[in-house]
Amino acid sequence: MIIVALDFDSKEKALSLVEKVKGKINHFKVGLELFSRCGIEVVKEISDKNCKVFLDLKYHDIPNTVKSAAKVAVEAGVWMYNIHALGGFEFMKSVAEFNREYSEKIGVEKPLLIAVTILTSMGNEDLKQIGIAQDVDSQVLRLAKLAKKAGLDGIVCSAREVKKIKENLGEDFLTVTPGIRPAWASKDDQKRIVTPKDAVKLGTDYMVIGRPITRAEDPRKAAERILNEIVEK
Ligand code: C5P
Repeated sequence: MIIVALDFDSKEKALSLVEKVKGKINHFKVGLELFSRCGIEVVKEISDKNCKVFLDLKYHDIPNTVKSAAKVAVEAGVWMYNIHALGGFEFMKSVAEFNREYSEKIGVEKPLLIAVTILTSMGNEDLKQIGIAQDVDSQVLRLAKLAKKAGLDGIVCSAREVKKIKENLGEDFLTVTPGIRPAWASKDDQKRIVTPKDAVKLGTDYMVIGRPITRAEDPRKAAERILNEIVEK
């Protein structure tokens, strides 16, 4: 399944893109830029169009503060949101419990709660600098295991890591994978890219695609082209 990253600086641009691809793709990611500009209203407006929102704010603070922010997300009816696994086991566990209990209490579907492990902008040297001796790969796996134990639904990772994650954590543990590029699209600033078709072959549950769709001359056609490529033999 595809999630379109709405990396825009205005609500009008974001909602116009949703209108263009809706019906073909119904899942959208609202990240820091759009949220900082428009707040939770943009999430509600997208949900009101019968679309699902992944709120990508990567919460990382003391549990009480994150739960208060998560409350806003649950009330707005987000479909998925994420927190940093580096917040620790107790942090993840208490947000996961809150997510379950509060969504039940107000009678909305429980949002999927996903962990961010190590940001892909960080390498082994960066980890050393902050006092983490393990390399990125083992650290990602360690945090993914901790996230599962804490009751989270999955992690954000590269499509190349899906196999290892599924082998270690089970098929049900969800993988959300950015860094996706069709062969015909510009790489932009992404380095380790995977095509949509390969991402599906590798077992990705949800792939996040931004610019190949949002910056295309005809976003709906770009979405159709990607969907066709995925099902092609
Ligand atoms: O335009 P593009 O397809 O590169 O957009 C990918 C989206 O996924 C962006 O919103 C980016 O911030 C996000 N992302 C990423 N790599 C990560 C985590 C998130 O590209 N490791």
